[in-house]
Amino acid sequence: MVDESIIEQCRQEAENVANQHDLDQLKAKYLGGKSAIRESLKDLASLDPQARNQASATVNAIKKQLGVIIHERKTVLVEEQTARALAEQGLDTALSTDVWRQGALHPLTKTFNQLKRLMYSMGFDVAFGPEAETFYYNFTALNTPRHHPAVTLQDTIYIDDDQLLRSHTSSVQIRMLEKVKPPVRIFSPGRVFRADTPDATHSPCFMQCEGLVVDQTATLSDLIATLRYLLEGFFGQSLDLRFRPSYFPFTQPSFECDILFKGRWLEVLGCGMVHPDVLDNVGIDSSVYQGYAFGLGIDRLTMLRYHIEDIRQLYDGDLSFLAQGEVL
Ligand code: PHE
Repeated sequence: MVDESIIEQCRQEAENVANQHDLDQLKAKYLGGKSAIRESLKDLASLDPQARNQASATVNAIKKQLGVIIHERKTVLVEEQTARALAEQGLDTALSTDVWRQGALHPLTKTFNQLKRLMYSMGFDVAFGPEAETFYYNFTALNTPRHHPAVTLQDTIYIDDDQLLRSHTSSVQIRMLEKVKPPVRIFSPGRVFRADTPDATHSPCFMQCEGLVVDQTATLSDLIATLRYLLEGFFGQSLDLRFRPSYFPFTQPSFECDILFKGRWLEVLGCGMVHPDVLDNVGIDSSVYQGYAFGLGIDRLTMLRYHIEDIRQLYDGDLSFLAQGEVL
């Protein structure tokens, strides 16, 4: 019959076992078919009932202890092996895990959300168009034929002769006017592209929000009132606005709109009355309908609103910059 000394013996041997294979052998030795425990269990049969009960309890208690020792050693071996593997891969298992962050909306997304709320409140619907456009939607239909100076190769990123990354959101005007009968009141935010070298005020990719109204009575004063509501709503204060005569092939008359900011006039959008040829191009009778349109720089508004001095910060993906959005 085994006695309890086998427990200590097993414990000492287990401590010297360094891998799973040796541990399996140790297990066979102490608990396997030919182990002392098994022999003792078999021998129980030859004892008289009272002695058998007592011996059985002892042997089973020892067996259980041996099982625990082997199991505990196995746990230690697995932990050691995992730590070794992680160390080889160069992972620091002591690294703090409390760097989890909730994240924040990107400043451009915040601006877009605010503009959306204001545009919805004036009864405009949102519309989206593709970022890769055809020459027709980006230029021709907007009264800008191929030979027009506004179509400069430097300004636009071409995919092939007929396809390009849209240089403005005005292409969505045409896509919508082809689909929807007047009265039309839509706004269309999105990314636009120009072949510009990035610097503090230029980015080859930036965001615009287009607005378009086509109706029998849409007037220039409606355009101005709409823009005032939109810009003052965005900045949360009354503003000095300035409308400067300008030129776009698809509006007539055309204007740039500036806002007075810390004593300086800053341009934030281009706008005008939809050129009659544009309406005729999409089969809308320009003797019955008229409209106004504007294309506003979402980046410019965002930079003014959040005091961002370099447009590249909006596209770098630098977390130390973006994390500030959590408190904005
Ligand atoms: N598409 C013009 C631009 O990108 C802005 C604009 C939109 C002007 C609508 C007039 C009307 O500069």
